[in-house]
Amino acid sequence: MNNLSNIDIKTLNDHNIPITEEIIDQINNGYPIPYIVGDVNFYGYTFKVSEDVLIPRFETEQLIEHVLNKNIKFNHVLDLCSGSGAIGITLALKTNALVDMVEISPKAVAIANENVLLHHLDNKVVINNTDLFTYEIADNYDLIISNPPYLTHQDNVSPNTRFEPDIALYSDDDSIKYYKYIIDQISNLHNWKLVAFEIGETEGNDIIKYANEHGLTNVYCLKDYNDCDRFIFIEKTE
Ligand SMILES: C[S@@+](CC[C@H](N)C(=O)[O-])C[C@H]1O[C@@H](n2cnc3c(N)ncnc32)[C@H](O)[C@@H]1O
Repeated sequence: MNNLSNIDIKTLNDHNIPITEEIIDQINNGYPIPYIVGDVNFYGYTFKVSEDVLIPRFETEQLIEHVLNKNIKFNHVLDLCSGSGAIGITLALKTNALVDMVEISPKAVAIANENVLLHHLDNKVVINNTDLFTYEIADNYDLIISNPPYLTHQDNVSPNTRFEPDIALYSDDDSIKYYKYIIDQISNLHNWKLVAFEIGETEGNDIIKYANEHGLTNVYCLKDYNDCDRFIFIEKTE
């Protein structure tokens, strides 16, 4: 008996990875199977992953679903804190938009570049290896989307995250500092139509309050399948 689920066994078999004692121990110790096999399915597409990137989550598929349900025509999308590129690349595949991404970790950028090539998107997607907090958002994006780090070291963190990079998870002591920076920037821009954030379930009110204080009025929270506040949308009011 190896304690692996049928889906674990199928995933390993599909990737021709022999089920050794070592692999079984890793999995029983909570090591994520996507890191073992080197990829994951996200929104029906294959994305390469390694320990250098967050494994894209089911909730993030819902973020994309909510955005596409708005039926807005996007020409130019900005994905901030892009990691493996799951959000930006999926939007490049699902829409006609050109996509720019911003990511601080060179190793994450390398993985995202592999994903851009895997999906033949090098003519549609550009990745900027830079720090969000020095990046000035240009006034030519109609969708600005981000799933930034939002945990603090005081948070009760799921043990499943312990193999993922700290830089993908933690936002120092201010869980909404990434959102604040993006809101500060967009409150001076004119051409965006929608800003979409994935958030921690306790942060919605603080982000809405901050956005309202910065002159943004059409700001609301959407829930995930577990009925938790998980997304903030800011829509341009003409
Ligand atoms: C929560 S992960 C999200 C990754 C991906 N967008 C997704 O949804 O799967 C956050 C990402 O932000 C990146 N990051 C952290 N601090 C950053 C900063 N100051 N500037 C740009 N990217 C940053 C991390 O390296 C990580 O890839």
